Amino acid sequence: MSRTKIILGLGIGAVIFGFSFIWFGVFNVAANVEHWKVSEKFFELVRVRSIVARAGNITVPDLTDKARVKRGAGNYAAMCSQCHLAPGTDTSELYEGLNPAPPVLYKYDKFTDKPSEKFWVIKNGIRMTGMPGWGTNNSDEQIWDMIALISALKDMTPKQYLQLVESGEHTHKNGGHGSSSSMKMQDNHQTNSGGTKAHKEPMKKKQAGHNDDGHAH
Ligand code: HEC
Repeated sequence: MSRTKIILGLGIGAVIFGFSFIWFGVFNVAANVEHWKVSEKFFELVRVRSIVARAGNITVPDLTDKARVKRGAGNYAAMCSQCHLAPGTDTSELYEGLNPAPPVLYKYDKFTDKPSEKFWVIKNGIRMTGMPGWGTNNSDEQIWDMIALISALKDMTPKQYLQLVESGEHTHKNGGHGSSSSMKMQDNHQTNSGGTKAHKEPMKKKQAGHNDDGHAH
C-alpha cells in the first residue's frame, strides 16, 4: 500500500469514528454525571485561556470602598447567592444540581485570579455552564459593586452579611420598590429595573406556588 492510501484510510477511519462517537451518543451530556478527567482538563484550559485573553485591558476601580461593598450586597443576594451561596448558607438546589458546580464565592474561586477576570466572567457569563451573562441588565458599576462585595465576603460572618443585605443601600431592592432616594446608583437602577425585575418575579412566583403545595421534596 502506498503512503497516500494509508493516510487516506486513516483519515476516513477518523471521520467514521468521530461520527459514530456522536451518533451513538457515547458522550453523556447529563449534568449529574462527572466529566471524564480528560474532557474536564480540556474545558478548564479552554475557559481559563479564553478569559485571560479577554480580561487583560479592563481597568479595576477601588474595590475596598465600603459604599461599593454595601451596594453590591443586595444585588448579590438577589441574583447570585442561590447558585454561589453566601455566609450562613452551605448548599442550595441550584448549587447541588449544576455541573460544573458554581464555586462557593465566600470560600474559594475556581479559576479567576484577578478582579478584571471576575468582571469579564460576570458581565459575559460562561457558555454551557449555567453562569449567566449579567451585562445585559446591569451596568459596569453594578458589576464592580458585586465584585467588591465578593472580595469582602471571605471575612464576613453570616450576621454581618445579612445586615449588609438588609441595609437597603443597594440598587436592586430600592430600584424595584421605587424608592425616592436621589443616590446616583439608585437612579441607574431605575433604567435597569425592568430587566432585573423581570428576572426576579417568575422565580418568586414559582417559589410561592411550590410552597403552597406543601411539598417537602
Ligand atoms: C444559575 C447559577 C448561577 C448564577 C445565578 C450565578 N452564577 Fe456565577 N457561576 C455559575 C457557575 C456554574 C460558574 C462556574 C462555571 C465554570 O466552572 O466554568 C460560575 C462562575 C462564576 C465566577 C467565576 C468564579 C471563579 O471560580 O473564578 C464568578 C466571579 C461568578 N460566577 C459570579 C457571579 C455573580 C456575581 C452572579 C450574580 C450576579 C452569579 N455568578 C450568578 C453559576 C451561576
